[in-house]
Amino acid sequence: MITLTTALAVIEEVFRRFKESRIFLCRDVLLPDYIPEALPHREEQLRKLALILAPALRGSKPSNVIVYGPTGTGKTVCVLLVLRKLVEESRGGVISLYVNCRQYDTSYRVLTELCRQLGLHVPNSGLSTGEVLRRFSDGIEEYGKVAIVVLDEVDVLVKRSGDAVLYHLTRLNTSLSKGKVSIIGISNDLRFTELLDPRVRSSLGEETIVFPPYNYAELCDILRERARLAFKPGVVSDSVISLCAAIAAREHGDARKALDLLRVAGEIAEREGCEQVTEEHVKKALVQLERDRVSELLRGMPFHMKLVLLAIYVATKRYPLTVTTGDVYSTYCEVCSCIGVTPLTQRRVSDILAQLELLGLVEAKVVNLGRYGRTRRVKLIVGDEHLLKALEEEPQLRPLISSLRQSLSSGVTSAVVK
Ligand SMILES: Nc1ncnc2c1ncn2[C@@H]1O[C@H](COP(=O)(O)OP(=O)(O)O)[C@@H](O)[C@H]1O
Ligand SMILES: [Mg+2]
Repeated sequence: MITLTTALAVIEEVFRRFKESRIFLCRDVLLPDYIPEALPHREEQLRKLALILAPALRGSKPSNVIVYGPTGTGKTVCVLLVLRKLVEESRGGVISLYVNCRQYDTSYRVLTELCRQLGLHVPNSGLSTGEVLRRFSDGIEEYGKVAIVVLDEVDVLVKRSGDAVLYHLTRLNTSLSKGKVSIIGISNDLRFTELLDPRVRSSLGEETIVFPPYNYAELCDILRERARLAFKPGVVSDSVISLCAAIAAREHGDARKALDLLRVAGEIAEREGCEQVTEEHVKKALVQLERDRVSELLRGMPFHMKLVLLAIYVATKRYPLTVTTGDVYSTYCEVCSCIGVTPLTQRRVSDILAQLELLGLVEAKVVNLGRYGRTRRVKLIVGDEHLLKALEEEPQLRPLISSLRQSLSSGVTSAVVK
């Protein structure tokens, strides 16, 4: 048994080592919610957004804006930085309200959150959406100045709950006399406007700003600037920065990924008691981030979706050359019978495959089989071990996976599921 004094000593030791980090000057600079003062390679977007919003400083309503671009291209951080400055400059003449629609994913939840940020008390349920909208509108009127509403990841809201709330928000000004509302919609999906009613599309998209992916050289600049603030001098070499940038450039120019790699590499170096971050640490960080990503994606996943993933894994072992959607379905049925659950229809399993593709776990390419027609070739795009580890978190699948591991290690791949 561990006594209280030794327990305290252990805790103190951890804290002391943390305070005396040999690696980090300020680790927080690498966290996703840190807003840097310098945003290299975004001058054009920052200038355009500032120009669009500037009329608010004279009390006019700025145009609504759609901001597009793949994840990790700096959309959120640029919008927040411009708004922070705008609010400061306006000395009380402008407020900004920010909602992330992945977190608040229905019209009702978006509107209650907007009300809450205006300082209004609205219950989390029980009112009609129309009533919450009315209270929001009254709140803005009472405020009497310009409110900029940011709907981040608005594509998620529209896909889940439609565009009604956008319709109402963009039309709010017609019923206001003093207060004014402008909307900034941020979307990761470039085809997002195709989902909108034409009226919403034209009123929300009065202006658009595009955020292209970063290239390798741009990512190097971004990382170098952050590393200077985050790490002690001499801890991170140029080759480490280049490696992080190269990996992230390969993955669609995502600055978040590049910064995560650098942060986790630093954490690993620190845990290992090293004085420098090396390329080895970056490689370990890549493995850890991938494992975390897969287990996070699988955590909230419906049970049958996990079964389909497991079936794809088994089918790939069985048919190393090509796995067709038919192979996936028959293997899925075997997996179901192994654990005694009723399989879903082939139709439902195809839908699940499409969702897995969207999540980036699976690739399903249409291939031509000549006179045998066409089918889809299914491939896993996550590492086997990451997948099995994450699937094992589901208790019902544990025995099956451990017998799979055994039969694989003994070379039996034809009948992995009995
Ligand atoms: N030009 C840049 N300079 C410095 N950091 C950046 C830049 N662009 C993005 N980042 C950082 O990369 C991460 C992802 O940016 P974010 O704005 O969240 O991307 P998005 O909203 O497009 O997915 C954040 O930590 C952000 O601070
Ligand atoms: Mg964002």
